[in-house]
Amino acid sequence: MATIRKAMMGDVKHIHTIIKESTQNAMVLPRPLSSIYSHLRDFFVAESNDGKIVGCCALAISWDCLAEVRSLVVVPEARGANLGAEMVGACIQEARELGICDVFVLTNIEKFFAKLGFEETDKNALPQKIWADCINCPQFPDCDEIPMNMKLK
Ligand SMILES: CC(C)(COP(=O)(O)OP(=O)(O)OC[C@H]1O[C@@H](n2cnc3c(N)ncnc32)[C@H](O)[C@@H]1OP(=O)(O)O)[C@@H](O)C(=O)NCCC(=O)NCCS
Repeated sequence: MATIRKAMMGDVKHIHTIIKESTQNAMVLPRPLSSIYSHLRDFFVAESNDGKIVGCCALAISWDCLAEVRSLVVVPEARGANLGAEMVGACIQEARELGICDVFVLTNIEKFFAKLGFEETDKNALPQKIWADCINCPQFPDCDEIPMNMKLK
């Protein structure tokens, strides 16, 4: 069992470790500690009953009425318990509360996001600004990520 909640200061180093470890096997962009501190309010975490941080996910506002789900990771031993889906759900709920119109994700696990209601979208439909982070991606420029979008209003 785990609880989904907003991240707090004491979670930063755990979030950093979880993301760092997942970048070795999955398409998750590495994030320096400084980026996690400055974007801490973007993050949700999954905290297990024994107080361990077993997952994280961030909702980053990108542009007018547009936000991105990013840095989604559940540690291998906690997978398959719906925590990934619940953290994305928490991001969507927050996006609704903020009055955001569209939430997108760049992903190579489209089936996971399709189950949650995201649909494949045209890369060109997303503003240029969001591609700035691609330069930090180990796959750049041979990207195989699929842009997916959920329309909220
Ligand atoms: C992707 C990830 C966050 C899923 O976390 P999780 O907690 O195990 O997923 P959930 O238990 O919430 O799964 C929800 C549903 O998605 C499905 N699913 C889970 N991982 C999936 C995957 N990699 N591909 C397709 N479907 C997946 C599950 O079977 C489940 O389906 P169901 O509702 O029909 O049973 C986790 O596997 C992970 O951290 N992967 C490595 C990092 C990564 O790829 N992040 C995403 C980058 S965009």
